[in-house]
Order: sequence, then C-alpha cells, then structure tokens
Amino acid sequence: MKFVHVLWVLNALLIAGTPVDAFDPITTTVVVSFGAALGRTIYNYLRETCDSRWLTYNSTGLKTDLENKLFGQHLASRIILKAVSGFMSNENPKKPLVLSLHGWTGTGKNFVSQLIAENVYKEGMHSKFVHVFTSTLHFPHPSLLSSYKSQLQQWIKGNVSNCERSMFIFDEMDKMHPGLIDSIKPYLDYYEKLDGVSYRKSIFIFLSNAGGESIVETALDFWREGRAREEIDLKDLETSVSLSVFNNEKSGFFHTSLIDKNLVDFFVPFLPLEYSHVVQCAMAEMKARASEGEGPPDLDVANQVAKDLIYFPKQERVFSVKGCKTIESKLDYYT
Ligand SMILES: *[C@@H]1O[C@H](CO)[C@@H](O)[C@H](O)[C@H]1NC(C)=O
Ligand SMILES: *[C@@H]1O[C@H](CO)[C@@H](O)[C@H](O)[C@H]1NC(C)=O
Repeated sequence: MKFVHVLWVLNALLIAGTPVDAFDPITTTVVVSFGAALGRTIYNYLRETCDSRWLTYNSTGLKTDLENKLFGQHLASRIILKAVSGFMSNENPKKPLVLSLHGWTGTGKNFVSQLIAENVYKEGMHSKFVHVFTSTLHFPHPSLLSSYKSQLQQWIKGNVSNCERSMFIFDEMDKMHPGLIDSIKPYLDYYEKLDGVSYRKSIFIFLSNAGGESIVETALDFWREGRAREEIDLKDLETSVSLSVFNNEKSGFFHTSLIDKNLVDFFVPFLPLEYSHVVQCAMAEMKARASEGEGPPDLDVANQVAKDLIYFPKQERVFSVKGCKTIESKLDYYT
C-alpha cells in the first residue's frame, strides 16, 4: 500500500515538473529544492532497511535531547530514558515496550515520541518503521469498528513481519474505541510468537489526556504549598493517574484490561507547563530557526510570546492552557 503511495507521489512530481519553465527563478528554486527534499525522502524511504545501518539506538542522544529540548518534565524525562534504554539494550525482551504518556495538552507527549523515534531510527519520524495512528483521523466511525479492528491487526502484523523493531504511536488514545484497544492487546502481551510473528522487539506508545486533570491538581497543590515542582515524585502521581484512568468512563482504558493485565510497562505523567517553561520553549524554537538562517534568539520576544498565552486556574494563572502548543505560530507573528 505504501509503495503505491510512493509511486503516486513520484507521478505527481513528474507532472508538477513539466511546467517549471513558466515559474520565475525564485519560485523555481523553491520548487526544485522542495522537490529535492521530497526526492531525498522518497529515496531514503525506498532504501531504508531494518538493520543497524538505519536503526541504532543512541542513548546519549536521547539523554541530551531530553535534557535540552524538553522543558519542565523531570519525571517524564527520567522514566522515558530508563524505559527506552533498558528495553533497547535487552537482546531478548519478554514483551514489547508499552509506554502510556499522560497529561495536559501541549506538555510534550507527541514531542517525546518524536525524540524517541529520532534516537532509534536514522530517519526519525520519517522512518517507514514508525507508524502513527490518530483515533479521530484513522478510526472516526464507531459503526466501522469491525473493519478497523481487522485492518489495524493486519497493519501491525504486516509491519512487524517486515521489521521486528517497529514503532507504533497511538495518539488520542482516550478517544479510541475500547473494542479497538482490545484488538491490539494480544500484540502487547508476553507471547513468544503469534501466528509465527514475534512482537517482542516492537515499541508501542499511547498518548492521551486521561489523568491530565489529576496531574494538574497535584502540581497545583505543590505550587500552593510553595514547594518546587521538581519535588513532585512519581508516587505523588501514580495512584491519581492510574485511578483516574480507571475511573474515567470516557477513557477507553477503563473498559479494557490493558491495565489489570499489566500490559502497560510505564505510565508516564506530563506536568502542566508554567510561564518559565513557555519562555524556554520559545527560546528553543528561535534557536532552531537561527540555525536555519534566521536572527538570534531574543529573550524579549520569548517573554512577549509567553505573556500572550492564557494561564489557569483563573485566579492564580499558573499553568499555560495550551502548554507550548501554539508557540510556533505566535513566533511567526512577532518576528
Ligand atoms: C548520539 O548522540 C550524541 C548526542 O546528540 C551525538 O553527539 C552522537 O554523534 C550520536 N551518535 C551517533 C552514533 O549518532
Ligand atoms: C503498515 O502500516 C501502515 C499504516 O501505518 C499500513 O498502511 C501498511 O499497509 C502496513 N504494512 C503492512 C505490510 O501491513
């Protein structure tokens, strides 16, 4: 299926290539360099193989990335690094790695998945061994549940047969139909093989807002008591996260036995972000843009961007409602 897609893109490129003469030189350069980037992506896509040339875990890389690019998440950083490094250095894992990332919008759940992918696969998120499923996008209609189920199972099986080091990211897990979650359960379990395929070296990452509110409550309690957020320990959150994931009936987790069967190896809490973290996010984004030729990072601009966001709860205004999510477009506006 993906190959057909690639051919389709190539086709589109050829067609798009014909009237290039008609463009002015600048447009042509843009089109050509865009074409070149796309061409490189396709080229790598066709060449990428499931071996150490394309797939080597860099634990130093993940550590540095978590330290330098993820802000305000001392717990998530620690858990992720330990979990991924432990799993990747195990030659003979007994089950696939299953991480469940929880927290408020814009706190870095997607971003962390990307950092993991970049330090496992040379091609990062562009790797053909990395698969992202978004509930509302890929599985929107409850009435199609049974076809979604068989399709998803086929995809997982097909892809892991191609490469045992496959990574599956499920976004909006709290909006995923419980029946669909049930259908992937066998792949997360301790089986040596299922129908001749071993899933033990794959990585599954679930992203959800479930538990986000109780994480916020805990972070707010610490803040009100004047305690540093770095003092928040996993045990302060663990019960509240798993309890709210259990008790929230809207959450698909509630209806499934992912949790009571211990198929999830790590619950990873993401704390809500404060003003200072938003400033850090903006500075990091400006730094990245500077390396692409834009001007140097400007702390005044970063503060301006951070001031523009909305914070909650209404009275104390401690946490950014959208975390670091809208920083990029805000920066476009100020620079
Ligand atoms: C691993 O990551 C570190 C830190 O980002 C980097 O300096 C190093 O070159 C990477 N190693 C490989 C083999 O890519
Ligand atoms: C792998 O997963 C993708 C979805 O990410 C799907 O389109 C493709 O058909 C799957 N490949 C196989 C061989 O099943």
